Amino acid sequence: MRSSWFNKLSLIFGHRIRHNWFLLCLISILALVVIIGSSSSLREFDSIGPPRFPNVYTNYRKLKEQAVVDYFDLRFLASGNNPRQKELSLCGKEKEKENYVPCYNLSANLKAGFKDGEEFDRHCELFRNEDRCLVRPPKEYKIPLRWPAGRDVIWSGNVKITKDDFLSSGSMTKRMMLLEENQIAFHNNDGLIFDGVKDYARQLAESIGLGSDSDFLQAGVQTVLDIGCGFGSFGAHLVSLKLMPICIAAYEVTGSQVQLALERGLPAMLGNFSSRQLPYPSLSFDMVHCAQCGIDWDGKDGMFVIEVDRLLKPGGYFVLTSPTTKPQGSLLATKKGNMLTPVEDFTQRICWSLLDQQDDTLIWQKTADAHCYEARKQGLPLCQDEHESQSYYRRLVKCISGARSKRWAPIRNRSNGVQYGEFYEEREYWKSALRNYWSLLTPLIFSDHPKRPGDEDPLPPYNMVRNVMDMNAFYGGFNAALLDGKKSAWVMNVVPIGSRNTLPLILDQGFAGVLHDWCEPFPTYPRTYDMLHGSGLLSLLSSEKCGMMDLFLEMDRILRPEAWVILSDNVGAIEMARTHATQIRWEARVIDPQNGSDQRLLVCQKPFLRK
Ligand SMILES: *[C@@H]1O[C@H](CO)[C@@H](O)[C@H](O)[C@H]1NC(C)=O
Ligand SMILES: *[C@@H]1O[C@H](CO)[C@@H](O)[C@H](O)[C@H]1NC(C)=O
Ligand SMILES: *[C@@H]1O[C@H](CO)[C@@H](O)[C@H](O)[C@H]1NC(C)=O
Ligand SMILES: *[C@@H]1O[C@H](CO)[C@@H](O)[C@H](O)[C@H]1NC(C)=O
Repeated sequence: MRSSWFNKLSLIFGHRIRHNWFLLCLISILALVVIIGSSSSLREFDSIGPPRFPNVYTNYRKLKEQAVVDYFDLRFLASGNNPRQKELSLCGKEKEKENYVPCYNLSANLKAGFKDGEEFDRHCELFRNEDRCLVRPPKEYKIPLRWPAGRDVIWSGNVKITKDDFLSSGSMTKRMMLLEENQIAFHNNDGLIFDGVKDYARQLAESIGLGSDSDFLQAGVQTVLDIGCGFGSFGAHLVSLKLMPICIAAYEVTGSQVQLALERGLPAMLGNFSSRQLPYPSLSFDMVHCAQCGIDWDGKDGMFVIEVDRLLKPGGYFVLTSPTTKPQGSLLATKKGNMLTPVEDFTQRICWSLLDQQDDTLIWQKTADAHCYEARKQGLPLCQDEHESQSYYRRLVKCISGARSKRWAPIRNRSNGVQYGEFYEEREYWKSALRNYWSLLTPLIFSDHPKRPGDEDPLPPYNMVRNVMDMNAFYGGFNAALLDGKKSAWVMNVVPIGSRNTLPLILDQGFAGVLHDWCEPFPTYPRTYDMLHGSGLLSLLSSEKCGMMDLFLEMDRILRPEAWVILSDNVGAIEMARTHATQIRWEARVIDPQNGSDQRLLVCQKPFLRK
């Protein structure tokens, strides 16, 4: 196509085109065609289900996509055959830029008048991406150790942490940390130094009537929301028990719990519900855990407790560990004598029962009976306008969510997982797609290590990727395929706002997941994912108002150096993506399955850039 455009233009002018203004005009016209075209929606993946590969295309659509391709070919020409000309450069070397998380600028939030805790929340509306640049890795950055070694030892240069963070790290979940020369070691596994976490988990299990912590799964406890996870050691233990802990914590400039957990390969994201709900639907988690998580549970008339109630599944548990005795009369204070304290009063109103109280740990269980709320004296009202399926940073409420939901099912009754019937087809599709991806990645990974004659074809190391994000997760089929293929990865399954909300189904399978608007930055630190996967994401977003380049910059921010991106979409979208990928200096290859469909794969690797 490139040559035919070139030929036509050459014919008209009879010589090589030199007049930039002419090209500019032409590009503008073509760009207009593209913009008008794309705003009329390229949504192939509107409806949910296995990505479809439409063979029937209207001529109109074909033309439109051709225009996109031509447009980029022309730009390629105009840039003097130098595709690297418009490459972006690295951002400055300041520590804040190296660890840059958009939407969490406290001083900007205060300036804008946010208060009462709202200043700690995400405010993407205040965020402007002024200078487009690539977030630079710190000078001492090293590629993390592979899982599971990287769970117990990380490079101290990879995270932003100060001596003070170490000194103040006294809590149960934090203190088992030693600083070696340029490494931070977490000696909590296999009793190396400290087995406090194991004792703690066993005690929790006993409190809810189980023999040991290996019985959690049988009792229906799989997904655990760990608020303020310290440095992730409790989560690391739960992972070893095949549970799915998700750490959330507020944005922290240094010593960030979320950054440390992700660096160790443990599921985590930024989340704070001081004024808004977390981006998960109601009835999402089997357990919510807070060990010295710093939340004032008495605050805001119990709205934090109500948010926990919203997130818990029926029969789920709330665990609160706090070494300091609560002042008397506080919301969650415990029984003194025979008097009912305000907390008991309150937890009774929301139908929680105190199961156990040992040392500094209290455990409540949410009711499994949806009628409990209305039967209680002074019970809280059920929420009326419940859009529980699209709970995306809504304001905290003072009513009970989920009680009328079709998904109200006690965790103890959960038979092994969900029924696959509805998405069996998707399952099978992703199994074979994953095999294809892996065989595509194998030669790329090993291109640095050419095999010697007689060598077997090497397989990619099974632990090559650990932190994976599926940017458009459908029913979580990609996640299931990774587990099926025995890859030691966990997946952050993102359900984009505006697509059908399949998140409850994803969470019910025991996977991690979150709702997200891809026109905004993702709530995580830079360099936290080993692989981003997006099937149909680009066509889904093509009708949004947000800029593709900003999306690609954001993907670059959250990828570790040498990490992978796999995008699958239609030709037009993939061609566009390739241009962006080149601009942000990724190694990118377009792969054509060459069977007549218009689907393409884009496989990219983010290089380890120093300058
Ligand atoms: C061709 O693409 C279709 C999607 O339409 C896919 O299901 C199929 O597996 C591909 N066939 C081959 C031979 O690669
Ligand atoms: C945060 O906001 C303040 C005030 O608006 C601004 O001066 C500063 O540059 C911002 N910081 C970052 C890291 O964007
Ligand atoms: C939100 O973050 C602030 C600041 O770190 C913290 O004090 C507060 O406890 C957090 N609140 C909730 C409910 O997460
Ligand atoms: C849950 O299981 C219990 C017995 O284990 C049974 O009595 C109850 O009806 C079940 N509830 C549901 C909603 O299936």
